[in-house]
Amino acid sequence: MKSPDFNQIIDRHNTGSVKWDFLDRYLHLNTTDLLPMWVSDFDFESPKEVLQALSSRIDHGIFGYSERDDLYYQAVINWFSKRHKLPLNRDWFTSIEGVIPGLALLIQMLSKPGEGVIIQGPYYASFAKIITMNGRSVIENPLFESPEGYKIDYDHLEHILEHHRPPLLLLCNPHNPTGRCWDRDELLQLLILCKRYGTTVLSDEIWADLTLPWGKFTSILHLGSEWHSNVIVATSASKTFGLSSLRISNFLIPDTTLRQAFNDRLNAHGLDVFNSLSMTAATAAYQYGDTWLDKLQDYLAENNSWFKQALASYAPWCRMTKAEGTYLAWLDCRNLGLDDNALQQALIQKAKVAVSMGYCFGDQGKGFIRINLGCPRQYLEKTITGLAQLTW
Ligand SMILES: Cc1ncc(COP(=O)(O)O)c(C=O)c1O
Repeated sequence: MKSPDFNQIIDRHNTGSVKWDFLDRYLHLNTTDLLPMWVSDFDFESPKEVLQALSSRIDHGIFGYSERDDLYYQAVINWFSKRHKLPLNRDWFTSIEGVIPGLALLIQMLSKPGEGVIIQGPYYASFAKIITMNGRSVIENPLFESPEGYKIDYDHLEHILEHHRPPLLLLCNPHNPTGRCWDRDELLQLLILCKRYGTTVLSDEIWADLTLPWGKFTSILHLGSEWHSNVIVATSASKTFGLSSLRISNFLIPDTTLRQAFNDRLNAHGLDVFNSLSMTAATAAYQYGDTWLDKLQDYLAENNSWFKQALASYAPWCRMTKAEGTYLAWLDCRNLGLDDNALQQALIQKAKVAVSMGYCFGDQGKGFIRINLGCPRQYLEKTITGLAQLTW
């Protein structure tokens, strides 16, 4: 199979792409000359094996009701065993069309209206959206920055657990937007506290495969069966292989009662039928995507280092925080001394880039921006040229 060329520019206009075609709708920006460096999907073609599997499935021509077959389960189980040394039990699997819909249903299932859900700020905006739009409240446990990267404030966490007794903590690992990969000790401390206060941990591990060479992913499931009654893990092949619009994710629920309750909820919503193309793509990706992903990780690591150096040379006002995973750059722009509105205007009018504004990630994101490095190097060069127009 031909080696992937991540430098290749593929025009994504007019494909219904949120990132490229719907800037106006989602970011309320009318300008069409902006380079979209915002939403987290990448601009690379999916592995050829996935494209071929999809194409053969389409050639078959019949798309009746479908279920996850043995190949599907085996592909996911083998992937986690091989890449993450994580043995998964097939019984734990539940599947739904996407991580966010699954998290939303679990919030409904595991908390009551008015109750709070803990998230770590700066937080992925969709977390706050599904919490508040389901009538629950966000309880923020702000992360703090240290020389080794962002850290969890356990004293504050214990304080809010004790004070609010929330039924749920929604963890993001690796963390969007900061790229932290929580290590075993950090996860253990969090689990101990959550168990003490009867709080279930929902761990969103959608970014698990996209670590940088100096980062290491540890699943909350790596911590062993003694925590199983208290944890649910969300996974998907979507970020790893660029399959976000194909909509399939797995929620791994080791606890039988929790799993049964979630499956009942899926059935209650008629969410017990699966998209055959999504399953075909995910199966092929997990079966054959190993080498492709190794190359992608190398490319993303080079993008990360290149971008950091280029910022230091051409836009030194902008500080890139240390990430261990994801393809996101979390950038501190406070040196410019602009408020968020003025910062956004400068990025649009002078730099000509559309970024994710940090304030959308909560109070901890004010003065920051998030840039998607999952793109051909040329886009990064253009972004740096744009950012170099801003001076302090
Ligand atoms: C942490 C996290 N969870 C979930 C999602 C989206 O998941 P899905 O598209 O499967 O709903 C994203 C997308 O950026 C994400 O960063």
